[in-house]
Amino acid sequence: MSDERWPVLVTRRLPKPAMDAIHARTDADVWEEEGAIPRDELLRRVAGKRGAVTLLTEKVDDEFLDAAGADMVVVANYAVGFDNIDVPALTKRGVMATNTPEVLTETTADTAWALLMAAARRVPEGDRFLRSGTKWIWGPEMMLGQDVHGKTIGVVGFGRIGQAVARRAGGFGMHVVYYDLYRPPEDVERELRAEFRELDDLLAGADLISIHVALTPDTRHLFGAEQFRKMKPTAVIVNTSRGPVIDEASLARALRDGEIFAAGLDVFEREPEVHPDLLELENAVVIPHLGSATVETRDAMGLLAAENLIAALEGRRPPTLLNPEAWEARTIG
Ligand code: DGY
Repeated sequence: MSDERWPVLVTRRLPKPAMDAIHARTDADVWEEEGAIPRDELLRRVAGKRGAVTLLTEKVDDEFLDAAGADMVVVANYAVGFDNIDVPALTKRGVMATNTPEVLTETTADTAWALLMAAARRVPEGDRFLRSGTKWIWGPEMMLGQDVHGKTIGVVGFGRIGQAVARRAGGFGMHVVYYDLYRPPEDVERELRAEFRELDDLLAGADLISIHVALTPDTRHLFGAEQFRKMKPTAVIVNTSRGPVIDEASLARALRDGEIFAAGLDVFEREPEVHPDLLELENAVVIPHLGSATVETRDAMGLLAAENLIAALEGRRPPTLLNPEAWEARTIG
């Protein structure tokens, strides 16, 4: 093993196990502030680096790569989603791109369920109500929600996280339907007792809908006014994927007009901004992109990002590589 210490940029302080692993093998320039690194600072500090660990708050595109220069070998994203990275641009320059799949699947599925339950059973609204000091007495029709157990859940995007959400639905005796462009092998459908539906059929039939698609030009505003109109008035929708998959203004209208019952959102169209109308609505449950936010999972994501970075710098294939072509170009030439 060479004892070379590579200059790398880390665009936000990661949990300690990851920082220890990165510091052990590199000369890391770490953005220590709480907020995202400003673009001009990012472009200035990435110059001459061999690798970078980036967050979903940083756009990694041609401008970034131009600023980095020809020595850049790898960009290790600290997220499973990589819509912030122009992967073809990296591939063209032989720069490897990596993400952090698998390690956050179960935690993100837990978060989706937390939002489903909170929105269907009006948990944050009840909490706000009590804290407001309003006088109350138990009543037969007070703050009624929607049942979750025994209902139909529609999972939109049936990859790892969507399937983990579906698996949990078994414990609630639910019927699982899903929509995805790619059908999983039949044994996955069988194990999860999940039935494929076209999107419109899923929208019309599901009581609870959980979104797990990647953000692409095709999934931007996959949910808008038309889709909300097709849903049941008792439906609950949850999004832990990426904000722009939902047209937030239309969602706020649908929630306000009673077209659907409630929504639980972890991600936002113009993150970190939240559409002001959503903040006014009792039936919108909003949390600040906490999908993977547990101590264990953030440690695991950090360690995987660090391993991806260091493997690439040491000339090993990174474990979760997004563009094998870049690796092949480097190793086969
Ligand atoms: C991801 O990994 O893509 C999440 O949005 C942050 O954990």
